[in-house]
Amino acid sequence: MDKIISLAKRRGFIYPGSEIYGGFSGFWDYGPLGVELKNNVKQLWWRMFVQDRDDMCGLDAAIVMNPEAWKASGHVSGFADPLENGKMFNTMFSTSVGAAAEATTAYLRPETAGGIFVNFKNVVDSLHPKLPFGIAQIGKAFRNEIAPRDFIFRAREFEQMEIEYFVRPQEWESAFEEWRQNVHAFNEAVGIASGSVHEVEVADSDRAHYSKRTIDFEFDFPFGRKELSGLAYRGDFDLQAHSEASSVPLTYHEELGANTGSKNIFIPHVVEPSFGVDRTILAVLASAYTEDELGGESRVYLKFNSAVAPIKAAVFPLLKNKPELVAKAREVYAMLKKQIPQIMWDDNGNIGKRYRRQDEIGTPHCITVDFDTLGEKPELKDTVTIRNRDTGKQERVPIGSLRERIAN
Ligand code: GAP
Repeated sequence: MDKIISLAKRRGFIYPGSEIYGGFSGFWDYGPLGVELKNNVKQLWWRMFVQDRDDMCGLDAAIVMNPEAWKASGHVSGFADPLENGKMFNTMFSTSVGAAAEATTAYLRPETAGGIFVNFKNVVDSLHPKLPFGIAQIGKAFRNEIAPRDFIFRAREFEQMEIEYFVRPQEWESAFEEWRQNVHAFNEAVGIASGSVHEVEVADSDRAHYSKRTIDFEFDFPFGRKELSGLAYRGDFDLQAHSEASSVPLTYHEELGANTGSKNIFIPHVVEPSFGVDRTILAVLASAYTEDELGGESRVYLKFNSAVAPIKAAVFPLLKNKPELVAKAREVYAMLKKQIPQIMWDDNGNIGKRYRRQDEIGTPHCITVDFDTLGEKPELKDTVTIRNRDTGKQERVPIGSLRERIAN
């Protein structure tokens, strides 16, 4: 864990929040490479669960909601952890909305799910989706954790990727099973070692107040086996509670037969896969962190898969003080960057050092422009070397083939 935390800090993935003021417990800042990694993880999730499916749509709701919503959902009375003295402590952050005497106490959302439930009717009215369908949201959530710990594992400000999947009441089990498999498929797609993820059926006494069945997906973090993500069957708890509290019926109207005019009106049930962005990133980092020996020297590298790697390829001129090499390398860099934005330029230090630096941030390919590229050996003109991060092996390929190779 110490090695991962120090690499993350040194190379610009994750910094302690407000560090120059001594930090602030439970808050973390994503640096230049961390934000790329995080965006890649979120984009992959969004693509897989929203854009590539016909039964899903997205949402981006406000973080601060009418506090009545958190009363109805049970969070104001029940979202609490025990303190050392046994007293319960509500972990929702409260804030004050509006000026002076008019101010209302509101909360920073402790889960993104709330924004989805209160928009159920809006989405049904605007898109008329057929059951089963889901609404997905990625965004910040806040919990005043009593003991934030283990780097970004338990933070006070974090990000969730959540889906509320609405089904006919009798269909929840098949949806639950489908999403159970989808959770594994996503973990695999981001490069979380599959043998390190374990399902745990959560006992009745340990489940959240709204859930009738929950599976926790636990990952072998360096500090132990802990929850990575969850899958819960929430029944009709939320839509029912918000219907009652708001007096707006959150029902679904289903035609019983063509042209009969008769309708079945009911509250759909919900299956909820909930992923933590930060825990996913930590599991990706832990899965990718590798120490090995290459060319007789020990090295550290991040074995990211290309989909999540913050930098897809780095381009170097063999020597920084040869203008013809630099000009040609700049040309290759510009050509690639136009289509693949996550490309890096590096001309610092010698080639060996540059390889090490790219290995350490998980860049899958390093491309070097050398004298053969310029035609020193005429048959090699306009070719470059491309080095594979994991094997350290280099190949010579035509510049014209680079774009497709990296994009693939
Ligand atoms: N809507 C369901 C829900 O919020 P949860 O198990 O409380 O369920 C879901 O949270 C996921 O959010 C967790 O599996 C975890 O990945 C992430 N998460 C929860 N609390 C967190 C914290 N304090 N720091 C980082 N991630 C957290």
